[in-house]
Amino acid sequence: MRISGKTAVITGGAKGIGATAARIFCEQGAQVAIIDFDEQAGEALAQQLHAEGFDAAFFKADVSNETDVNHAALLINEQFGKVDILVNNAGITLDAMTLKMETSAFRHVLDVNVTGVFNCTKAFLPSMVEAGAGRIISTSSIAGTGGNVGQANYSASKAAVIGMTKTWAKEFGPKGITVNAVSPGFIETEMIKTIPEKVIAQIQQLIPYPRFGKPEDVANAYLFLASDEASFINGIVLEVDGGMLK
Ligand code: NAI
Repeated sequence: MRISGKTAVITGGAKGIGATAARIFCEQGAQVAIIDFDEQAGEALAQQLHAEGFDAAFFKADVSNETDVNHAALLINEQFGKVDILVNNAGITLDAMTLKMETSAFRHVLDVNVTGVFNCTKAFLPSMVEAGAGRIISTSSIAGTGGNVGQANYSASKAAVIGMTKTWAKEFGPKGITVNAVSPGFIETEMIKTIPEKVIAQIQQLIPYPRFGKPEDVANAYLFLASDEASFINGIVLEVDGGMLK
């Protein structure tokens, strides 16, 4: 039990990496609030975890919508009384080569992946500041550090996550709150199912380790940064990519 008694909020927790993180955090003793805009998947996961004896609940919110996020934060603080850990995991892609990328697609990805992280961090910080302790973990990507063809919007958003992480590590470190990012490589979730098979084979050539990542590889990195073992780690970007050449 590495995060026993802690309350964790996981955004984008209904599916993919976030859903795996919600389960692992529950198994490690945390109370888990899942935020997602997919109500059906979020409710189903929370009910399943509840049926297994875990303390998990679902809160519907679009992270890019400040009003939604503040409302969810109010309900979560009411239900759990505090928030110790925030995992800013929700994220989307809307890929296109730059000349074909609509400005609306550029803005939308930044709204979710950047403003969403800002909204959630701002909403859950007061509880951590009051406690004089807290953990904020946000999800970047190898696309944020290395760039990726067809992902000008996504790469920009994930680089911004690193900038915000390093700023907040300096702003909130003195208040006992650590802020770190995890940078996944290619992880087997819905997100990469849109990539053509030929491209997948090319990507595998770039990963020194002989497989793609699994959701639990990233969820375990979130867990480490949320655990007591990581209490002096602040402002880092933890790469979980099998050593992918960038
Ligand atoms: P996913 O698409 O499987 O799951 C994302 C979850 O976020 C879904 O439950 C979705 O409903 C939710 N979500 C999306 N937009 C939302 C919004 N506006 N408000 C609330 N919830 C929203 O994605 P996956 O693969 O689990 O990705 C999780 C994080 O990891 C994302 O930030 C992604 O950018 C990042 N990542 C994923 C990689 C991969 O290979 N799968 C690689 C690098 C980073």
